[in-house]
Amino acid sequence: MNDLSDFRKSYEKSELLEHMIPEDPMNLFHRWFCEVKDFGGVDEVNAMTVSTIGLDGFPKARVVLLKQYNEEGFIFYTNYHSEKGRAIAKNPQLCLSFFWPSIERQIIIKGMAEPTSKDVSDNYFASRPKGSQLGAVVSDQSEVIPNRNYLENKLHQLEIDTENTEVNRPEHWGGYLVKPISVEFWQGRPNRLHDRIRYNLQDEYSWAIDRLAP
Ligand SMILES: Cc1cc2nc3c(=O)[nH]c(=O)nc-3n(C[C@H](O)[C@H](O)[C@H](O)COP(=O)(O)O)c2cc1C
Repeated sequence: MNDLSDFRKSYEKSELLEHMIPEDPMNLFHRWFCEVKDFGGVDEVNAMTVSTIGLDGFPKARVVLLKQYNEEGFIFYTNYHSEKGRAIAKNPQLCLSFFWPSIERQIIIKGMAEPTSKDVSDNYFASRPKGSQLGAVVSDQSEVIPNRNYLENKLHQLEIDTENTEVNRPEHWGGYLVKPISVEFWQGRPNRLHDRIRYNLQDEYSWAIDRLAP
């Protein structure tokens, strides 16, 4: 047996007390995100786990990059035909989560996903380096492929075909805006008495705020 029961640490880096809690969870998200970025020690601060309910009924979680956030919600980009894209088309309820170990924080967001407008997806696609654009075009994300060469050959051919032209965004590639209905902030504290503050969306866009037992 590989026994990991001695893997323990005391969480002591920060706290989340009532006087630190704004009315809107997006404000607290923004504050935490900036603090984590400034604190350092996290390689990809904007990496988050997206969990969907698949067509097979199972939950599935995978990491993607948060690319924008605003008062409406959180945006990531992907292939709409991918396994997650097909899952979201059937059930747009999903969960986003962040774990920032350097400052002992976790955020769990439940929300409803909707494709971003064509303009938003076009603008983001246009901002990507050409190599990333081509990668998005050649990859039928989540499909079975014969081998790695298949992909590299496809990329090579496309590089030749688009040498002097711009790459258009494929229709099936774009963003999802996730509008939160619940946002939970977890701050590690000593003796396992962690701070947990949860925002639940009420009617008329106000938020109920509760402290949860750790
Ligand atoms: C750090 C990191 C960042 C990633 N960013 C993205 C991303 O922004 N969009 C994306 O579609 N996949 C991203 N991926 C790949 C996904 O985790 C996943 O493999 C892919 O989206 C296919 O998922 P699916 O088959 O469940 O749809 C990233 C993976 C890692 C580890």
